[in-house]
Amino acid sequence: MNQKTMRYRQHWDSYWRHIVDNNLQGRVLWESEPERFAGEEIERFRPFINQDLPLLDLGCGSGKQTSFMAQHFNRVIGVDVSPAVVDHARQSNDDNGRVDWRVFNALNADEAVALHDEIGDMNIYVRGVFHVIDKKDREQFVSTIETLLGTEGTLYLIELTVEALTYVRSINRDGSIRFPKVVQPTGFNNASDQESYFPSERWELLASGEDVSLPTIPLEDGKVGAVPANYLVLRRKI
Ligand SMILES: C[S@@+](CC[C@H](N)C(=O)[O-])C[C@H]1O[C@@H](n2cnc3c(N)ncnc32)[C@H](O)[C@@H]1O
Repeated sequence: MNQKTMRYRQHWDSYWRHIVDNNLQGRVLWESEPERFAGEEIERFRPFINQDLPLLDLGCGSGKQTSFMAQHFNRVIGVDVSPAVVDHARQSNDDNGRVDWRVFNALNADEAVALHDEIGDMNIYVRGVFHVIDKKDREQFVSTIETLLGTEGTLYLIELTVEALTYVRSINRDGSIRFPKVVQPTGFNNASDQESYFPSERWELLASGEDVSLPTIPLEDGKVGAVPANYLVLRRKI
């Protein structure tokens, strides 16, 4: 295991272990119930994908969105770098065995090749993961995505905007919501980051949205928060 693989795995696994061991699942800000919002997300990418391919939820966390996806797509795979959260996802989701849960590090090129060799081309759903990857590692993250998509897969990426941090601070004044130390205080900017990470000579932009949001768990006042987000639907130009 190389150092990069170790670092993400150690940090995220210790975060998720703490959450699971202390029964704090309800305090993870982004773990919203999928029923109200994930349907909207599906409609953003479903028109563009080949539905015969499996759908991979990359960085699935405790898998709420993943198991919702499994009600809508034939084959769904949920992967995360943290063994603790993958175990938790396997045990806590009522998916009737429809999700294939696996430990996978998106920064390990060998793991990406092995998964693609086994499964073939896939569609990929990435929700709020890009911003937790260090800038210096993002090229590798995108390269993994390219390997997994192959020639036929489509990518749906929904990410926090650069304004998201200010919003999140404003809803967490009492500090009751726990964040992993590894979360980067940078969001994704469709206008500039899209061209840096998904340049138009290599990627075809199928759809995008600037003014969407990622719902939170219910906050102090019982209302669900809306973290500013944006999304891209992309395919490789081969
Ligand atoms: C902010 S959470 C989002 C979780 C999930 N997508 C959701 O929306 O509920 C980021 C997730 O990315 C995972 N992660 C971080 N680095 C990763 C890596 N290198 N490979 C795979 N997963 C990773 C973390 O363990 C964590 O579950």
